[in-house]
Amino acid sequence: MPDTLKVPHTLKVIAIDGPAGSGKSTVARAVAARLGLAYLDTGAMYRAVAFEAMRRGIEPDDEQTVAELSRQLELEVGEKVMVNGTDATVEIRSPEVTRAVSSVAANPAVRKEMVLRQREWAARRGGGVVEGRDIGTVVFPQAPLKVYLTASEDERASRRTKEMLDRDYDRVAADMARRDQIDSTRAASPLTVAADAVELDTTGLDAEAVVDAVMALIAERVPQ
Ligand code: DC
Repeated sequence: MPDTLKVPHTLKVIAIDGPAGSGKSTVARAVAARLGLAYLDTGAMYRAVAFEAMRRGIEPDDEQTVAELSRQLELEVGEKVMVNGTDATVEIRSPEVTRAVSSVAANPAVRKEMVLRQREWAARRGGGVVEGRDIGTVVFPQAPLKVYLTASEDERASRRTKEMLDRDYDRVAADMARRDQIDSTRAASPLTVAADAVELDTTGLDAEAVVDAVMALIAERVPQ
């Protein structure tokens, strides 16, 4: 675990992890709204680093240059994603950024910087709903509730196709499978299920049913 910042045990963090298209963003955003908590999309942070690297003509797998860039980056992730003063909300979802982001997210120095920023974000707010790949395993191992969302490969690819700028199912499915493979096998914080996470298979469920299930877990497990 990066020794960047101590994680206070009292933070009310709801950690939502899972692969692309598992429904994380929709569910995390809705849960945050129901609880009146802030919501953080950590995938957007890695996308923002990839976006800025591409904009500057830096190769995404140039580890040192991308790491330095990530430390210098002015980044705001909220309703909009602002990267060094530019609104990149739409561009970070482009196929080019989507293809480049895995190598950026596999860069240990970039991860260290992003984890530090994610902990600061939560510390400033006393907690929040945070979604990503390593939130329950690395960023907030003390979170009172960790949810790991899954869904069948076919359903995840269909959801992603609706979400992305690229609407071609076969291409989105192929990119997604490639990215899942890199995300799950990389050395630095691979996508894994935390031992104490609750796994929810969302195949065939609509978002509201999943949000209800997560709300029930919160009522049961998260001290009010
Ligand atoms: O969820 P997403 O597709 O927007 O995530 C973009 C990329 O960032 C994806 O390749 C996984 C990676 N990621 C990560 O490694 N750790 C996180 N906490 C969030 C995303």
